[in-house]
Amino acid sequence: MLPNIVLIGFMGCGKSSVGRRISSLTGHRFLDSDELVSGADNRSIPEIFAARGEAGFRELESSVLASLVGVVGIVLATGGGAILREQNRGALRSLGVIAWLDAEPDILFERATRSNKRPLLQTADPRKTFDDILDARRTSYETLADFRFDSSHCDHDEAAKRILDQAMRRTRAEKNTR
Ligand code: S3P
Repeated sequence: MLPNIVLIGFMGCGKSSVGRRISSLTGHRFLDSDELVSGADNRSIPEIFAARGEAGFRELESSVLASLVGVVGIVLATGGGAILREQNRGALRSLGVIAWLDAEPDILFERATRSNKRPLLQTADPRKTFDDILDARRTSYETLADFRFDSSHCDHDEAAKRILDQAMRRTRAEKNTR
């Protein structure tokens, strides 16, 4: 059986769009941790940051991720900072195959700043903030992921097909080594 697929990666990498397409290809239910956090607090992510600060947002994010442990048949798109806490990393590992959706920094930055929905980038120098956060997180994405997929030069449909293919190959390879 196809395991859960968890998408991690930086803001703007396309986790939600690609996740929805993997969900259509597989029949797995699509979940987006930001949407779950938003639903749990009845307000948007920027409103949550404004009311509770980043720390309050992270608490909600952690409880949402913990509540998913044991759920099967899902494709989960995580928020870019979901990898920051060990408790979250443990929850994501237990869920299924973890794909790191990556792209070139210029591309990520352009995609991440198309909307102003990302509170962490509302600074005097968004590009510097973006680069600093990306540098600080890169190793965590790399360490947690089962594999990395560079989506710089392909569309969401292509990314979804190729990530699914890699996830299935990994699952088969794991079975054969048991
Ligand atoms: C965040 C990324 C956002 C959202 C929140 C914090 C981060 O999700 O969870 O604004 O810390 O990188 P996306 O990665 O979907 O933009």
